[in-house]
Amino acid sequence: MNPATTNTPGPRTGLIPVIPPGPGPGAQSAPGRVPSRAAPYDAFHTARARTTLVARFYAEAMGADHPAEVCASSSCDWPLLGLMTARLRMSPGALLVDAGCGTGGIGLWLTRALNCRLSGFDLSSVAVTQATRRRTRFGLHSGRAAFHIADLEHPGLTLASAAGIICVDALGRVTDRDAAVHELGRALAPGGRLLLTRAVRSGTAPTWEEQARAAGLMVEHVDERPGEPGMWQRLYRLWITHADRLRAEVGEVPARHMLEEAHRMLPTLSGRRAVLLTLRRPPADPPGSGRAVAGAAGTMSPTGEPDARPAAPERTPL
Ligand SMILES: C[S@@+](CC[C@H](N)C(=O)[O-])C[C@H]1O[C@@H](n2cnc3c(N)ncnc32)[C@H](O)[C@@H]1O
Repeated sequence: MNPATTNTPGPRTGLIPVIPPGPGPGAQSAPGRVPSRAAPYDAFHTARARTTLVARFYAEAMGADHPAEVCASSSCDWPLLGLMTARLRMSPGALLVDAGCGTGGIGLWLTRALNCRLSGFDLSSVAVTQATRRRTRFGLHSGRAAFHIADLEHPGLTLASAAGIICVDALGRVTDRDAAVHELGRALAPGGRLLLTRAVRSGTAPTWEEQARAAGLMVEHVDERPGEPGMWQRLYRLWITHADRLRAEVGEVPARHMLEEAHRMLPTLSGRRAVLLTLRRPPADPPGSGRAVAGAAGTMSPTGEPDARPAAPERTPL
């Protein structure tokens, strides 16, 4: 983690280590070449796929809130799936983007639940390959769900194409977070929503209002996630308690990075505030109409009227 790049330090990997200073084992680069930024993520997605131990630790840390089928490398639990389902307000057939999708479980689960289409991307080719393989387990085919390699800072998404974008625990390693939010915002159709997990340390002021405004988005909801810090505490303690098994099953280097993360993050978790942010692109305003209308995102009010209500930021305690 580079504190200079973030005001939201936190356990944003759940598996992904601090990028090692050199080409460590597992980094897939030729000798003498600078390791790719994706290398540590590739190494850890590979390591995780080798064993069920990491998934079992997540299951134990989350308890009844663990959505086993999703098998995320993040803080994604049943309450988060429920919140995202409610906040996205997707119409059938609309496009959902999963940014920093990892092995794809969250986007695939939401796509099946909401009857939409999915485009997921991640820096790691290993994660993208695994996500693509997992499609059929969710009953989805290539016409409904596709994954590709891309960087959050330059995702190359089609302008105004997505009704919803999710980004779960993936912004943390991004060098220019403002640029990433801006790029994701550009890909939203009018009225579309960008859902981001964010966290701030105790005593730190969040900057997400300014970040949203700079990207031309409104903060529609800030949903508190009071269970998130405790989940990380339990998970990190499990890693530390079972360090020897971890080394044996994921390999020496991935385990070392996980344990470093656990020791580094544990002391920072008390007082941490975790939220799900819902940012919205304003519905399009046709020239001369004097009112907003639902755009390509297709958001409608319960009466079937275009959803043109003012989007006052809403704090929603759980
Ligand atoms: C903690 S994992 C979360 C993955 C997934 N969202 C989930 O919840 O299971 C973070 C993911 O972000 C990806 N990632 C990190 N930096 C990225 C970037 N600049 N662009 C795209 N993906 C990135 C990593 O490869 C990793 O798969």
